[in-house]
Amino acid sequence: MDSIERDVVIVGAGASGLTAATQLKKAGLSVAVLEARDRVGGRLWTNDIDGATLEIGGQWVSPDQDALIETLDELGLETYSRYREGINIYLGENGARRTFEGEIFPVAPATEKEIVGLIERLDALVAEIDPDRPWEHPQAKELDEISFRRWLETQTDDEEARLNIGMFIAGAMLTKPAHAFSALQALLMAASAGSFSNLVDADFILDKRVKGGLQQVPLLLAERLGDDVHLNAPVRTLRWDESGAGESGVTAIADGVEVRARFAILAVPPVLISRISYDPPLPRRQQQLHQHLSMGFVIKVHAVYETPFWREQGYSGTAFSPYELVHEAYDNSYHGDPRGTLVGFVSDEEADEVFRLSPEERKARILESLSHYYGVEALSPVVYYESDWGSEEWTRGAYAASFDMGGLARYGSDLRAPVGPIHFSCSDMAGKGYQHVDGAIRVGRETAAAIVAAVQPAR
Ligand code: FDA
Repeated sequence: MDSIERDVVIVGAGASGLTAATQLKKAGLSVAVLEARDRVGGRLWTNDIDGATLEIGGQWVSPDQDALIETLDELGLETYSRYREGINIYLGENGARRTFEGEIFPVAPATEKEIVGLIERLDALVAEIDPDRPWEHPQAKELDEISFRRWLETQTDDEEARLNIGMFIAGAMLTKPAHAFSALQALLMAASAGSFSNLVDADFILDKRVKGGLQQVPLLLAERLGDDVHLNAPVRTLRWDESGAGESGVTAIADGVEVRARFAILAVPPVLISRISYDPPLPRRQQQLHQHLSMGFVIKVHAVYETPFWREQGYSGTAFSPYELVHEAYDNSYHGDPRGTLVGFVSDEEADEVFRLSPEERKARILESLSHYYGVEALSPVVYYESDWGSEEWTRGAYAASFDMGGLARYGSDLRAPVGPIHFSCSDMAGKGYQHVDGAIRVGRETAAAIVAAVQPAR
């Protein structure tokens, strides 16, 4: 067992932990980053699958994500636009196939009116929410007591309008059924992206990709940190001193390495915080609150074809349906690859359902769903890959964690509150950029700044 001493030990080499470590080092503090996996990046993972470069985790950058964009610039990374020329496809109930341009789906005029009205009401509510403090909204408690699905039922009787608006937050973002999270949680999701309108605008929220893949961000940050990043080092135990100010504030005990430090940053998804043993135990508030967060669940499916055949037919590749197994799909062709790639998403209860099937049956069901949008050519990809974050021990779901009903108003304000020398940092704890890499970087910076401020008087 190697034993080292540093100012700060960071648990987790995702975008958040590596950003915090980088900032601390810039401020003159010594760091050690302990990462459980044999790679850095956590939920950012660009891989070569059967000769195709695929982004198994996060990939898109939107124009408001200034913390991420600054980091891309600092690291010298270039972006490219998602292919979006041509017409989009919408499948209504019973598979009725319609095409459209713009953001509003081609539904009956009465349903369109309801959708537009719901978007306006949600935008107005979201404008009242501070994404960093949603629990301070005057109706926070009431909004946290009602599920998003029930809230939508109080707004309109139009089922197709409810399903579509529900899909943007439920299947597409929190990746939980709309009955499983509150209206307040839904508003936080929208507020974190600036407005509900931004969330429904695929051209905004899924704007750019990074040449070389978004995992370049953690890979380059880790490269600069060099030997301060330790792989295959899952932290099992954290000993900490309640006074928090002493020289021996924490000891992080990982497989093969032990780090004594003044501060620790737990830069792991909140659902994994309680996998570590604490000596003494974390306070009751933290022991309770971490049980009220859970990961959503989505399968990100890549299908690579010899050519982007949909483009030749005038389609953008963008497709939606609240009635389909694959509820949304896009042209996800990789920069420089002449082949065409579609990416589709299967969320929450539908993901549960297809994971009960054999891999062959699951693939057949998913490709069949893609063929409902793009025709029979979609049935025969040359490369096919399903992400399976639910079985990743060091993530356990996708995309991120959210509170159960009532949890955000009750516990949200304590989620990032430090406990003695222990700080918390993760995209799942962000306000702006919540659940996104931008949020991971933002919180990483803020956590590092808090520690720098705490040590400065003593330096
Ligand atoms: P993250 O989970 O990445 O890092 C935590 C690290 O801690 C991991 O490396 C883990 O191994 C490690 N760890 C856990 N327990 C440990 C222990 N006990 N000891 C040591 N290490 C431990 N975002 C976006 O901006 N655009 C997008 O397009 C998408 N799309 C998307 C698709 C899919 C399929 C996923 C799964 C996610 C996205 N996201 C996204 C979300 C984005 O990827 C995510 O929010 C951030 O990468 C999270 O970064 P963090 O550093 O906060 O956590």
